[in-house]
Amino acid sequence: MQLTKAIPTCEIDFWSDAVILDPYPHYDRLRSLGPAVWLARNEVWALTRYDSVRSALLSPEIFSSASGCMVNEPMNSASQGIMLCSDDPQHLAMRRLFARPLMPKALAELRPRLEALVEHKIDTLLTRDSFDGVAELAHYLPLAIVTELVGLNEEGRRNMLEWAAAIFNAFGPIENARTLEGLEIAQHVIGYVLERLDRASLIPGGWGEALFIAADAGTISEHTARMMLIDYLTPALDTTINATSAALELFAAHPDQWDLLREDPALIPHAINEVVRIESPIRAFSRHVTADVEVGDVRIPAGARVLMLYACANRDPDKFPDPQRFDIHRRPSDHLGFGMGTHVCAGMHLAKLEISVILETMARKVRRIEASNPVRRPHNTLRGLASLDCALVA
Ligand code: HEM
Repeated sequence: MQLTKAIPTCEIDFWSDAVILDPYPHYDRLRSLGPAVWLARNEVWALTRYDSVRSALLSPEIFSSASGCMVNEPMNSASQGIMLCSDDPQHLAMRRLFARPLMPKALAELRPRLEALVEHKIDTLLTRDSFDGVAELAHYLPLAIVTELVGLNEEGRRNMLEWAAAIFNAFGPIENARTLEGLEIAQHVIGYVLERLDRASLIPGGWGEALFIAADAGTISEHTARMMLIDYLTPALDTTINATSAALELFAAHPDQWDLLREDPALIPHAINEVVRIESPIRAFSRHVTADVEVGDVRIPAGARVLMLYACANRDPDKFPDPQRFDIHRRPSDHLGFGMGTHVCAGMHLAKLEISVILETMARKVRRIEASNPVRRPHNTLRGLASLDCALVA
């Protein structure tokens, strides 16, 4: 007689405040249950270990994005046509266009402007007894520069942070209050982008305008150009803001690591990867399984929805020994905090540039970072702080 193996199952609600605010013990438990775990309350599969998440991300023909990366159907259908929610070859055609202004060469031209802004910002903050590291430092470059680069008009720029956070909240399960609130705003934003946004209102030379120029040239349809604006609008701010806030908190808590970085600024790229590994700003996105697939001992059936737990995989001790230790010498360049494979973060170089400029400037000017009273923001998709009391010591 053949014995059927029990499916590893966990009863947590992945989108409850308790799990969101203190996720790491839950991630440890999920990984210990197996590389693929059924989340019974949420009725969704979760890939938990570094190897299982990585190999799924590298198999997009089985773990497909085309029917959405969220876990509720209204949001998955509303997102049809954005790059994040598409498979190759359509995805790659959009991505080639999308990523043009985000490649290292294009970004190099931006660097001097970022350096000047950050130099002034840090000098000002050094004169202050204390400040909110999230609102006054982490928000600074994304709000000052990135909203302008996207090229939305004044209304769009003013609302972009709120819209983006709401859209990411709408990635959750439909019965969740944050999802419902986010969905309402997401539908408003999609309506605005598709129907009310006047292309003449986009800032000339911005990324948004470039999409419409590509539509004029017949490279993409105007509908695609409008939907792709969502790809610029949603992930460009909070992700980087959360990573910057995490860097402040981590370096304040680990002054030895700050000393190492100041002594050798060449460590900054590795430090940024380590911050994104240990405090991954994106908890998870999902995929739709196109054919029955074995993950470890478990068979996931075609049609299932599966979460890629980037943040959980990034603390897998089989990949990153002593994973809860913040160590800027670790050089975890293959972590999954930016994803991997065809959908690997398209804005990664911009995020790294922004955070590099901040760390480089602070390494020259700041001997100690002090931080206290971290206030965490419960959010369905993003891990990050709402505020952090900081002081910089020259
Ligand atoms: C520290 C900052 C950031 C983190 C941690 C992050 C994380 C991620 C992750 C995990 C993915 C993978 C999605 C998947 O597997 O389906 C992703 C994709 C993406 N990111 Fe980021 N991101 C960051 C910054 C940015 C910025 C600044 C932008 C825009 C300027 C951006 C734009 C995108 C886009 C458009 C995709 C979808 C790419 C595709 O579908 O091909 N991200 N990001």
